[in-house]
Amino acid sequence: MKRSARVLLVAAAVAVVWGGYALATAVRRGFSARDEPSRAEEVVARAFRRWATPEAMRRVPNPVAASPEVLTRARRHFADHCAGCHGNDGSGRTPIGRRLYPRAPDMRGAETQRLTDGELFSIIRNGIRLTGMPAWGDGTPKEDVGTWELVRFIRHLPRLTPTEVAEMEALNPKGPAEYERARQIEAFLAGSGPTAPSSPERRMK
Ligand code: HEC
Repeated sequence: MKRSARVLLVAAAVAVVWGGYALATAVRRGFSARDEPSRAEEVVARAFRRWATPEAMRRVPNPVAASPEVLTRARRHFADHCAGCHGNDGSGRTPIGRRLYPRAPDMRGAETQRLTDGELFSIIRNGIRLTGMPAWGDGTPKEDVGTWELVRFIRHLPRLTPTEVAEMEALNPKGPAEYERARQIEAFLAGSGPTAPSSPERRMK
């Protein structure tokens, strides 16, 4: 047998034994969304994900020009539909975003900002299979304009100001407990509530 063939055979045997051991360990321990995704998994998933956007779509430039009105609309849209997982600032630091597998990424960073406008549009419109990222909109031209506006907002994320974040917080969807707290605050400010309501416990157990 040639030397190169022997090396290949040994490498294949090592790969089979290592793969078998990794699988057996995973099955014994079980899987959890709590585990931190490994770097190898991230690289492979990102590489596969690139194929989800058709080549021609990747090159489409954003047809919606940036303007203060567009950014205001997109900020409101994002605060209502996206911030639950991604956070108002796009950091992904929310109770849901941090516990999804894969995690909601920090969209201010290079990995996201490197994606083309067409790729961002396609991801928002079609979602990402096998992840928590849903497909948004119904594909009508009106919805598509809203999606292109969101792409403008994602480009603006690295320069988002604290004032803009504060505005968005007021627009985040509220649960019953938060509505009740807002009602208590209003009653307190109007002078009819007994005491100032205390901060709700926000940490996830
Ligand atoms: C239920 C949670 C959830 C909601 C709501 C959500 N996303 Fe996501 N999103 C994710 C997750 C998880 C990923 C990461 C998927 C991956 O790693 O492939 C993601 C990825 C993305 C990406 C790709 C970024 C990158 O670098 O990989 C974009 C862009 C994006 N989301 C935009 C949006 C927009 C815009 C909205 C609102 C219209 C939204 N998302 C709503 C969970 C969510």
